Amino acid sequence: MVQKRMQELIKIINQAAYEYYTLDKPSISDQEYDRYMQELINLEEKHPDLVLPNSPTHRVGGEVIAEFNKVVHDKPMLSLSNVFNEEEIVSFDERIKKEGIKPQYVCELKIDGLSVSLIYEKGILIKAATRGDGVTGEDITHNVKTIKTIPLELPEKIDLEVRGEIYMSKNAFSLLNAERERQGLDVFANPRNAAAGSVRQLDSKIAASRNLDCFLYHLPNALEMGIHTHWEALSYMKKLGFKVNPNISIVNNLNELLSYINNWTEKRDALPYEIDGIVIKLNDLDKQIVLGSTVKYPKWATAYKFPAMEVLTKLKDIVFSVGRTGQVTPNAVLEPVRLMGSVISRTTLHNEDYVKEKDLKIGDIVAIKKAGDVIPEVTKAIKERRTGLEKDFSMIKVCPICNQPLIRKENEAIYYCLNPHCDARKVEALCHFVSRKAMNIEGFGDRIIEDFYNMGYLKDFTDFYKLHTQKEELMELEGFGERSINNLLQEIENSKNNSLENLLFALGIRHVGSKTAKILAQKYINIDNLMKASVEDLASTKDIGEVIAQSVHDYFSDTTKVDLITNLKKLGLNMTYKGTEVVANPFFNGKTFVLTGTLNSITREEAKAFIEKCGGNVSSSVSSKTSAVIVGDNPGSKYDKALELGISIVKEEEFLKQLQE
Ligand code: IVH
Repeated sequence: MVQKRMQELIKIINQAAYEYYTLDKPSISDQEYDRYMQELINLEEKHPDLVLPNSPTHRVGGEVIAEFNKVVHDKPMLSLSNVFNEEEIVSFDERIKKEGIKPQYVCELKIDGLSVSLIYEKGILIKAATRGDGVTGEDITHNVKTIKTIPLELPEKIDLEVRGEIYMSKNAFSLLNAERERQGLDVFANPRNAAAGSVRQLDSKIAASRNLDCFLYHLPNALEMGIHTHWEALSYMKKLGFKVNPNISIVNNLNELLSYINNWTEKRDALPYEIDGIVIKLNDLDKQIVLGSTVKYPKWATAYKFPAMEVLTKLKDIVFSVGRTGQVTPNAVLEPVRLMGSVISRTTLHNEDYVKEKDLKIGDIVAIKKAGDVIPEVTKAIKERRTGLEKDFSMIKVCPICNQPLIRKENEAIYYCLNPHCDARKVEALCHFVSRKAMNIEGFGDRIIEDFYNMGYLKDFTDFYKLHTQKEELMELEGFGERSINNLLQEIENSKNNSLENLLFALGIRHVGSKTAKILAQKYINIDNLMKASVEDLASTKDIGEVIAQSVHDYFSDTTKVDLITNLKKLGLNMTYKGTEVVANPFFNGKTFVLTGTLNSITREEAKAFIEKCGGNVSSSVSSKTSAVIVGDNPGSKYDKALELGISIVKEEEFLKQLQE
C-alpha cells in the first residue's frame, strides 16, 4: 500500500518536474507540487528501506561520497576537431565529399560546459560519469541526480546510454558569484568552471544548490537501436524526456551551414547560456561509420570556434617576472575583465619593445584580444581616453628578485638576469624540470616547488632524486600525507626511465625546446656522444642552426653542467634515447629478411621489432626478393628454399652481432 502510494507520488512529481523544468510548461501549481513532495518525504522518512532510485528526493542532494570511482566508458567519449574560418569549414566538407558522400549536416550550438555520459538500466538512471581522458571518467551519479532536467526514470524500461553537456546558465552563474563575493569566497572565472567545480564535489548538496542544467546531444548506440540519422536520435532523446537544445537545424549545403553559423554568431550573447562555437555533424549514421574516427575525434563532425573577441579594460600596472633562463618579462596588471568566458587580470607584455611599440602607459585604457584557448593579448592603447594622469613605462635596470643588474643582449629584445643564484631563476628552472614535456613528474605544482625550494629541500635538479631520503620529514609537512608523498616519490622514481630527449629538454639549455631535444636525442643516442659533439657536428644536424649548436656546446663546456650530468647519472637517470624511430643499420636497412627455426636469445617478435627498428622488413616466405634468411635451431622448409635459391643464410650469433652494431 505504502509502496504503491510512493510510486504514484514519484510518477506525479517527476512528470510535473519534466513539464516545469524541461518543457517550461508547468501543469500543476507550486503549492500542489510542494504538497506531493512533502508527502513523499514523510513516507520515505518512515520507510527508508523503500526509497526508490527514481525518487525525486534524490534531487535535493544529501548523498556524500568518500572518493570518485573510476568509470570505463563502453565506447570512448571522443572530443571534436576544431575549425576556425570559412576555408577550414570548406575543407572539412570537401574531405567528406571525397569519400563519395553527399553530406547533410545537423548544426548544433556548442554548449560551454562539461560532457557527461548517462547510463540507464531498465529505464532507471544508474550511472553518470565525466569524460575524463575519454576512456575512463569519474562517477558523478550522486551530483547528476540533482540536475532537475535529467530524468531519473524513462518512460520505457530500456537500457540506454546518452551523452551531453552539463552547464550553468549565465543567470545561475551571476547569482552564484554574487553570493560567493558576499561570503568573501573566490568567484568562478566562467560558467564552465563553475559547472565543472560543482560536479566535482563529494557532497551532492553542493551540486544541488548550484542550479546546473544539461543538454543531451549524442546517442552512442543509435544504430544498434534501429536509428539511422542523428536528427532521429535527437528526436528520440526528446521523446524520452531528455532536454535537447531547441536551436538545432538540418543544413543541406555549405550556404545553409554558413548562414546558421552567422546567425548564431550574432545571436549568441542573447542566449541564456554560454556557447563557444557551432558543432557540425554528418546526419547519416551509416555514413558516420564509413568515415570513422581518429583516437581523439570523429571524422564525421567538427566544431567551428567563434573568432577572437576584444574588450577594453584599464592597465593598472606593469610588473616584472623572471623566467628560468633569467629572462625578465613585463606583465600587464589589468582591471579584471570577462572575455570569452574567462576573467582576465594579468597577461604577458613579452618585452620592452612590445610595450614601446604599442606606446602603452600605466593607467591607459587598453584593448585585450583573445582567440580560443590562447593567451590574451594587449593589442593597443585607446589614446583618446587618456586623461594626462597616465605614467610612462620604463624598463627596470636590475632584477626584481636579486637586484643584480640586467643585461640586454645584442640583437635581442629581452633583458636577462644573469645571476645563476637568483632565486626566481632557480625556482622557474625547477618548475620547468618537472613539467610534462620535460621529466613529466606529476604532483609538483609551482607552489610546491617554490615551498620546497624555500625550505631547502630542492636546490638543484639532483635534489629531486634525493627527496626519498627525507620522506619522514616531508610527510610531516602541512598538506602532505604518506600517500601524497609516496605518489610524488614514485613519480620521481619513474622519471628516471625517461628517454634522453625528456632530460635534454628538462635541463633548460637555451634554445633547446622539446622538438630540438628530440632531434638531438635521435642523432646522438646517448648523452656522452652529445657532450663530445663539436659545434660543427651539431650544426650539421637537420633543423639545428648555428645558434642552437653553439648554445648546446656552451652548455656542455661548463664544468658545473658536466658535474650535474655526472651526478644525475649516479642517481640512476637514463641518458639514452629510447624512441621507436628507425635507426638505420646498413646490414638491415632497406632489406627483407625471413626468420626460421627457434631463436635462443630473443623471441620472434623481438627479432622482428629489432629488424624493423634498424630499417629492415620481415617477410613470412622466401623468394628471390629475400635478402637473407635468419636461421635458429631446427629450421623448417624456408631454410631449404633459401639454399635452393642461393639466398644468404645468417646464423643467430651473426644476427645478434649485427644488431649490436
Ligand atoms: S558532440 C562524438 N555536440 O564540445 C560526439 N559536443 O570540444 C562528440 N560540446 O567534448 C561531442 N556542445 O563536451 C557535441 N552540441 C554538442 C556539443 C558538444 C558542447 C562539447 C563536448 C565535447 C567538446 C569538444
